[in-house]
Parts: sequence; C-alpha cells; structure tokens
Amino acid sequence: MTATASSTSDVKSLSLADEGRRRTEWAERSMPVLRQLRERFTTERPLQGRRLSACLHVTTETANLAVTLKAGGADVALCASNPLSTQDDVAAHLVRDHGIKVFAIKGEDHDTYYDHLRAALAHRPDITMDDGADLVGALHMIALNRLDDLAPAVRTWVERLSAADRKSLVTGVIGSTEETTTGVIRLKAMAKDGVLQFPVIAVNDSDTKHLFDNRYGTGQSTLDGILRATNLLIAGSTVVVAGYGWCGRGFAMRVRGAGANVLVTEIDPLKALEAQMDGYRVVTMEEAARVGDIFVTLTGNIHVIRLEHMKAMKDGAVIANSGHFNVEIDLDGLKRAAPPPLAVREFVEEFRLGGKRLYVLADGRLVNLAAAEGHPASVMDMSFANQALAAEHVVRHARTLGKDVHRIPRDVDQEIARLKLQAMGVSIDSLTAEQQKYLASWDMGT
Ligand SMILES: NC(=O)c1ccc[n+]([C@@H]2O[C@H](COP(=O)([O-])OP(=O)(O)OC[C@H]3O[C@@H](n4cnc5c(N)ncnc54)[C@H](O)[C@@H]3O)[C@@H](O)[C@H]2O)c1
Repeated sequence: MTATASSTSDVKSLSLADEGRRRTEWAERSMPVLRQLRERFTTERPLQGRRLSACLHVTTETANLAVTLKAGGADVALCASNPLSTQDDVAAHLVRDHGIKVFAIKGEDHDTYYDHLRAALAHRPDITMDDGADLVGALHMIALNRLDDLAPAVRTWVERLSAADRKSLVTGVIGSTEETTTGVIRLKAMAKDGVLQFPVIAVNDSDTKHLFDNRYGTGQSTLDGILRATNLLIAGSTVVVAGYGWCGRGFAMRVRGAGANVLVTEIDPLKALEAQMDGYRVVTMEEAARVGDIFVTLTGNIHVIRLEHMKAMKDGAVIANSGHFNVEIDLDGLKRAAPPPLAVREFVEEFRLGGKRLYVLADGRLVNLAAAEGHPASVMDMSFANQALAAEHVVRHARTLGKDVHRIPRDVDQEIARLKLQAMGVSIDSLTAEQQKYLASWDMGT
C-alpha cells in the first residue's frame, strides 16, 4: 500500500474528486438503462446488507455501476482489473462523495495491484464482480490450498488467516459475476474440472453485452487508444487485426471506416471465412508481418505476435493489444532480443530490433483503456445493467443456482434491449395475432 492508504481506500489523491464527479456525471447522461435501474434499486434495495467486491476497470462508467450497487443496498469495495486502466479522478470521487472503498491507482506496480486485490478480498464479499476472473481466481487458489499460485501480497495475507477463516472467506461467497470473454473461458474451464466453488453469472454471454460492448465499444475505443497514443494517420495504412471475434469484428469495421486497408488473421475457419466475405483479406500472421503498418491483437490468446513475426516487420511498425491480458504479444521475447526501449511518447515505446524500429503501445496492455478512456458510456450502459441485474439474480436465486457458469435469463437480456431502444426513442413493431399463430404453426400459409 502507498503512504496515503487506509484500510478503506487507496487512491492517488482525493483532490481529484471534483473532476471525477464531473466526468462521472457526463457518462451518466449516456447511461439511461442503468439510471432506471438505480431508481428501482433505491426503493427496492435488492442488495441490502450484502458485501460486494468488484475488480473492474475504474472508469466513469464503472463509477455509475458502483453507485447503483450501493443504491441497491450493497457495501461496495472496488479494485482495478488492470494496473493501467484506473482513472484516478474517478477513484477519488467514489471515495469522497459515495463512501465506496476504492483501492486503485493508475500505473500501480505489480505488488500494489495485488495488494489492492487483497484489500477487496479482505472486504469479505458475499458477491464478487470480476473483469478477467482475478478475484475468483484468487479465491479458488485459497479454496484449493494452492497458496504458491497467489501473488506474494495476497499469499502473505492468506497465510496469516486461520484455516476456518480461509474457508469462510470462500464459502461466504454466494455467487459471482464475470464481465469479459477471457474470464468466462477460465470459469468454464473451472466448472468443467469440477472445482468451481460457487455459481457465476457470465455477463459476457448476454446478447446485450457482447454484441455491443465487445463489438462497438472495443471497435471505437481501440481506434481511439491508438490515435491518442500515436496521432498516426490511419487512411491509406495497412492495419492487421488478429482475431475476428466480437472485438476484432468491431475494430476491423471502424478502422476500415477510417480508411485503412485491413488484413485479418484467424485460427478458426468459420471466422476467417466470415472476415473474407466481409471484404477483408485473410492472411497468416507470417504474411501480415511483412506488410502491416499497425498490428492489433484481439484474441484472448497467448503469443499471437511472436519474435519471428516482429523480426519480419517493417521499420516503424506499431504493435498494440486490445485483448484482456498483456500476453498476446510476446513482449518478454522482444525485451530479450532488443536493447531497453526508449519512451518516445506517453504509451509509446520504441524497440530497436535488427536495425529496425518497432513501436509497442501501452506495454501490450489493453490499449483502449490504457491510452484512451475505454468504451463509450452508451455501450457500458447495457453491460453494467447486466452486471447490476446479475448481482440481483445471484441474491434472489443463491439457493437454487448450481456451482456452474450461468447466463442471465433471456427475458432479462431482452428487457435491457427494450429499455435501451426506448431511451434512444426507437420504436419497433410487435407481432400481430396472425403472425404469432403463423410462427407457431407448421401448416399455415405455405
Ligand atoms: N479491449 C476491451 O475493452 C475488451 C472488451 C471486451 C473483451 N475484451 C477481450 O478481448 C479478447 C477477445 O474477446 P472477444 O469477445 O472478441 O472473443 P471471441 O472469442 O469472440 O474472439 C476471439 C477470436 O480470436 C481468434 N483467435 C484465437 N487465437 C488466435 C490466434 N492465435 N490468431 C488469430 N486469431 C485467434 C478466435 O478464433 C476468435 O475468433 C478477450 O480477451 C476479451 O476478454 C477486451
């Protein structure tokens, strides 16, 4: 912890709170669904008396979620899900104006990051809310007594707890929610191995989450992060998009709109075919490496760009990642092969490799959150409406939900879409009685 830390918060400086409040209110204007939920939560208090620990990117949108959860009666602790994504003014605002326990500082080192995670665990949550399964991962290492797999800051704390205390830390959790693809993949692997200790709601699996947040949110904010970090001209450049999932599709769409020639790399034949028919050129990374100007990984996989690719790149190539973890680019390999890099701009490091210059953005971490502000509030409105409703679902159905990965009920997902459309002033048709009958029958009107 830093010198200014207490057991209830550790943020950069409370003097930033006014700016954080202004920016959080600005985001709130684009979050009508969450606002409506907050009103209901204020009267119904579905999370009354529950301790909730969240490990999320500490942004203006997350601030609106945290305030909504508090309005629902939860006692909220918040730590960062990435050491570079915290907005320090927002963290200060949540502590000063809402009494939320925030442990997050932009640029915190590895030990501080995990000490903040420890503080969120020490809150002894009934419910955890993750973006990347860090809290749930730590709780499972504790449950399975794999303390060597915990970061030192967490392990030292756990070792001081009695066996009964450790047990109650895990059994006290009635359920969890998970925001992102990478976290959901890990949780499903835990469920498959039969080690999942409590039910988890995969918020990412909601249609009102991944169809919009991953696609339009990541699409726009990844381009925003690259532009803010480099101020390069996109028009006429060759941009390589690794991964044509929800995030990759969104980014490819936006960067093509900005005038780039877009190449896509994939490992899944269906996604590759889709990219090809969407009008992109699908190539291997080996082929792309020789011609790309800007490379962006959005796969959720490891070492998608390796040293052999970087050696083949052109002088001046830019490499960025927008997948969850900073493992998509083999930066360790690059750091071993090249002299220490030069910081040429904020979030831009120049590596010299075999006489060529390569520029790595934001240390290979989520470029949209490190170098820009993450997704626009309007898409996070739906993602975080899902989160708030998932927390309510966990409380309501704690006794009946199995220790598995669940999705939010489809009618809730549809309701979020309905509310969003309503807030956008968009009306849609409804089925006539005749149409309902037609769709339910097999012998009518052929
Ligand atoms: N930047 C953000 O703010 C943000 C937002 C949402 C999700 N994410 C993260 O982005 C990543 C992708 O999420 P998604 O929802 O698009 O997942 P997805 O599963 O829809 O897509 C991932 C794609 O990558 C492909 N892929 C895997 N390995 C590859 C490789 N070696 N080369 C090329 N392609 C490969 C897969 O076949 C798949 O099509 C995840 O880590 C997710 O957690 C980031």
